[in-house]
Amino acid sequence: MKKPDDNPYVEPPIRAEFDGTDEITEDEAREQIELLREAVEYHDYRYYVENDPVVADKTYDALYDRLEKVEDEFGLVDQSSPTRRVGGAPLDELESREHVVEMLSLDSSEEEDEVRAFDERVRETVGEVDYHVEPKFDGLSVELVYDDGVLEAAVTRGDGVVGDEVTANLRTVRSVPLRLREAPERLVVRGEVLMPKDGFQELNRRRVERGDEPFANPRNAAAGTVRQLDPSVVADRPLDVYAYDIMETTAEVGSQSEAVGLLEELGFLVDEESRLVDGIGGFVEYRDELLGRRDELGYEIDGVVAKVESFDARERLGSTATHPRWAFAYKFPAKTDETRVAGIAVQVGRTGKLTPVVLLEPVDVDGVTISRASLHNEKQARELGVSEGARVEVERAGDVIPQVKEVIEDGDGSFRMPESCPACGSEVVQEDEHHYCTGGVGCPAQLQGRLEHYASRDAADIEGMGEEVVATLVDEGLVSELPHLYDLTVDDLRALKGFGGKSARKLVEEIEESKEVSLASFLTGLGIRHVGKERAARLADSMDLDGLREADANDLRRVEDVGPEVAETVAGFFEGRGGTVVEELLERGVEPESKETGGSDVLEGQSFVFTGSVEGYTRRELTDELERHGANVTSSVSSATDYLVVGENAGDTKLKDAQEHGVEKLDEKEFREDVLETL
Ligand code: IVH
Repeated sequence: MKKPDDNPYVEPPIRAEFDGTDEITEDEAREQIELLREAVEYHDYRYYVENDPVVADKTYDALYDRLEKVEDEFGLVDQSSPTRRVGGAPLDELESREHVVEMLSLDSSEEEDEVRAFDERVRETVGEVDYHVEPKFDGLSVELVYDDGVLEAAVTRGDGVVGDEVTANLRTVRSVPLRLREAPERLVVRGEVLMPKDGFQELNRRRVERGDEPFANPRNAAAGTVRQLDPSVVADRPLDVYAYDIMETTAEVGSQSEAVGLLEELGFLVDEESRLVDGIGGFVEYRDELLGRRDELGYEIDGVVAKVESFDARERLGSTATHPRWAFAYKFPAKTDETRVAGIAVQVGRTGKLTPVVLLEPVDVDGVTISRASLHNEKQARELGVSEGARVEVERAGDVIPQVKEVIEDGDGSFRMPESCPACGSEVVQEDEHHYCTGGVGCPAQLQGRLEHYASRDAADIEGMGEEVVATLVDEGLVSELPHLYDLTVDDLRALKGFGGKSARKLVEEIEESKEVSLASFLTGLGIRHVGKERAARLADSMDLDGLREADANDLRRVEDVGPEVAETVAGFFEGRGGTVVEELLERGVEPESKETGGSDVLEGQSFVFTGSVEGYTRRELTDELERHGANVTSSVSSATDYLVVGENAGDTKLKDAQEHGVEKLDEKEFREDVLETL
């Protein structure tokens, strides 16, 4: 992308006179906003597309903050501003939308013969051709529609004719330009939404930490994210869109290379592995090369694509009902192989969840030896029919956890979860599709994990209490429940293998210091199911510890990001064994402290429902703000609702319900003036 000429904000130093909170007129504000948007867009591009930022984070933040401030002060926000990337109001459902140009699929094969046959058909019709060769991205296809250079719509590929409109979600993706520079009047682009491998690993790590199910592979993660109803969730997930085709444009383009060149110039993320080759031999070589390098790429690919370079030739070739005759995908063989199941073990996780682990006769799949595969639960094991002795096809899905894809030959029967915990013998209970040990902190498998977790940096942060030390404490019987940690003495520790006087004193000191802990870290450390670091922070922001201990599921549901299941779990934790553990920790002097919330009770007893969006706020921010002042925010209108806040793009159902129940409506202006501004 070209650098916006003469824009003082694009590179430091930033012009000083635009920095302060100087009085400016509305015209000056408009001018400033334009320059700041260009600058932020340019720096987003350098960072997210080129991977080559030219300013320090601090400088970028200053530009962004200034832009947000001027937009807010003058009420000059619009959907294509880079400040809107944080995600707008949640939707009730995704709308269907017809594609501008029918989205065909690709003819494909794993066989070289078929690839050569495709080339013969091409040459019969148009003679010798060059091919533009590209990776075949393993994500999901989207259509991006730009009018006068502004992103108007993003639609996933559905059945080829109609897809789901996901514009609000894709606006949060930094590699999707919201405005194009020097753009053609009309541009329809096709590309692939992907989750890069590193971002995927990190996202799964965070999910596991919160007790959520990890995504099986980057493709599933990307697909699940794009179909989210809450754009602010999408904004927090690492997605990219690679642009690979122009479907319609008013610009002059005569070949695929020109099309890709134009996309790049306009600020889209285009892939660097694409190139022009002469003839099908070049394509086959390209396939071999990328197959060898697929693990080095930052994203998943499942093959390569050849496209006839010249658009004239393409037109002569035309399309069938399902795919163009000018393109072909040479698919990679799946990363799978066959082996035998040696047994199925059952693992007990930190939160007591039991997971079956398939033990395999070691097999090499695409250069990596696989000897274990995990399953989510008993149901999955049964559905797949995995049991000891079975012959199975295993797959390295998304370079992560190996999976059993299919049973080729049955084993000795069906697998069942044990009725008692393999680690402690306590009863195992089933909740939904999962099984849990009820031993809690009394289960050694959990105790070890629970103590490590409690001592971890995001929790009580007890330095020096890593895996080995915890194992020693548990094995020696010094700690059989979490609160016992606080009974440890220097003498106890000094007697242990690996400890001297100094290290024993140091650890006791560390444990003593951990008594002063923030409520959020304390809650994180308790290892309550579904409550990781982020949710713990939300709970801590809305209640103090006494409040939490007394709260029932209904009270807890008012906390942001806490649904019915989480609310039940948290309430259940404090009512049961967890409550006793907390009591014992407090008795030993642990003092979790709440943050000042800065709230009030001016909205106490008033109930709000939102429909549509309120400019400048996400639904989450609004809910938080009202709840901090005592209001109750719910998702549907009933006779208990006091106000329906009607924002932009409001839904009919809620308006009708409000009418029916005689609920007072507040338009955006009334809501701002009569509610928000009084807080
Ligand atoms: S071009 C009319 N190029 O593969 C042809 N598609 O089964 C338009 N895909 O749905 C597609 N990488 O999601 C094209 N470099 C690439 C691609 C690509 C991945 C996907 C696309 C499509 C599927 C075809």
